[in-house]
Amino acid sequence: MAKVYIALIHYPVYNKRKNIVATNITGFDLHDIARACATYGVEQFFVVNPISAQLEFAGKIIDCWKSEKSYRHNWTRAKAFRKVKLAATLEEVLKKLKKPIVVATSAKAKGGASFKALRSKMKKSKRPFLILLGTGWGMTNEVLDKADICLERIKAKAEYNHLSVRSAAAIILDRLLS
Ligand SMILES: C[S@@+](CC[C@H](N)C(=O)[O-])C[C@H]1O[C@@H](n2cnc3c(N)ncnc32)[C@H](O)[C@@H]1O
Repeated sequence: MAKVYIALIHYPVYNKRKNIVATNITGFDLHDIARACATYGVEQFFVVNPISAQLEFAGKIIDCWKSEKSYRHNWTRAKAFRKVKLAATLEEVLKKLKKPIVVATSAKAKGGASFKALRSKMKKSKRPFLILLGTGWGMTNEVLDKADICLERIKAKAEYNHLSVRSAAAIILDRLLS
């Protein structure tokens, strides 16, 4: 099985008006996506944000969970936090990994690779996979277009299709890695 990484993209993403913006890091995202990553054997969970104050904020949370005291307090959370890494840009993440196959996700994806096809590709590939998750109103078209694979969207029966990134992360990992 190939190594799998996750990157949560805070820039460049769209806001409600389709302007390109950087979004804030949310504590819930760090905790919940880190736990999903630890549960499904994801190698590392990169949080990508170009704003230094935002990286500092996330760094404080990560550092807090590195201590022996935190481990004793809640070892499952402390262990999950070992997966979390910070990066200013997606390019920085790409440089750290060895020629990853980049997989974009979007609630709006029309078509795209099926979960089944990607799962079987992951079983055979020697190259690592980097799954990109968006924030705000989703990653920009430029980021989506640059990815090697665009994954089909998670479809449900209801018309409503607005999953939080935390829920989407857990569903995607379960479909690909369970
Ligand atoms: C656009 S953000 C929304 C963030 C929102 N502000 C929150 O509270 O999480 C949600 C991200 O989760 C993923 N996502 C959400 N719904 C999805 C779906 N139906 N299919 C695939 N990915 C989905 C995508 O990566 C998307 O960019």
